[in-house]
Amino acid sequence: MTVCEAPGKVYLFGEHAVVYGEPAVPAAIERRATVTAEPRSDDHVRVEAEDLSLDGFTVEYAGGTGDHPDVDVPTSLVEAAMGYVDAAVEQARDAADAPDTGFDITVESDIPLGAGLGSSAAVVVAGIDAATRALGESLDRRELADRAYRAESDVQEGQASRADTFCSTMGGAVRVEGDDCEPIETPNLPFVVGFDGGAGDTGELVAGVGELRDEYRFAADTVASIGEIVRTGERLLADADPGSAPDRELLDELGELMDFNHGLLSALGVSARSLDAMVWSARDAGAHGAKLTGAGGGGCIVALDASDGTETALSFTQGCEDAFRAELATEGVRVVE
Ligand code: MEV
Repeated sequence: MTVCEAPGKVYLFGEHAVVYGEPAVPAAIERRATVTAEPRSDDHVRVEAEDLSLDGFTVEYAGGTGDHPDVDVPTSLVEAAMGYVDAAVEQARDAADAPDTGFDITVESDIPLGAGLGSSAAVVVAGIDAATRALGESLDRRELADRAYRAESDVQEGQASRADTFCSTMGGAVRVEGDDCEPIETPNLPFVVGFDGGAGDTGELVAGVGELRDEYRFAADTVASIGEIVRTGERLLADADPGSAPDRELLDELGELMDFNHGLLSALGVSARSLDAMVWSARDAGAHGAKLTGAGGGGCIVALDASDGTETALSFTQGCEDAFRAELATEGVRVVE
């Protein structure tokens, strides 16, 4: 039995624009998906998922067939979770040259699902790592990140950037621009996350930005401006002291860029009333800045604040279901046992 866990992430800057070749800076947070993999004597895959829905679920099927049996939880949730597990198992089988190996897989996660915190990427990264190691192989991190990207991309029919999977594999903050992905040094940023309990439809939201961009020159300019925000933010991070607590001036400057980034995402139509309410609540409570994170439409916002003010204010904000402090996860995927 092998157990691996991988972190979720927030976007400090750059979601959506990254789809059009602009850079983005996601940062891993200490909320993890844990995957246990145990090879079986047949070719079946049995998936047991805890915390992914209120009751969790268990299913067993012939892996890779896509022919999942009926289970008593919302189909989309099961389909999504099994799709990612299936894709991870396929990558592990391929990496270890063991095409017919079955697995008992258990997934646990404290990352809200589909809410902009990279839950599926974390499941895929931890799943490939655990299943490959259970077969006696281990992948270097670059290959693991690449396989995780391919797995996520398969499930999302090509609509995935490398950002989530690379960040979850490496930990810390990373810079992603097209196929170029690099870890970057960053101070220990004090993230606070607000979650509205919902999730946006990433495919629809990405397509909506694409349509606006095709139709209006100013929408294309907005996407390019997000890229400029990312480059400005990167310079600030590069000048800061890595691993230290950031000073107020840096937090104010980063926060201002986050506010700007949120405004532009809002102009591109990917915010939501609940996200805007949480962003304003965080700002009113004294956060240095706040923005939605991920595809938008619902899900999470991220704010910068070292005090408890933002977390408390968010927890009283109408439409906020959960508010929590999220430490930077300096370590990416890791083996637990
Ligand atoms: C979704 O978490 C982030 C997007 O930029 C899409 C992607 O990068 O794959 C909206």
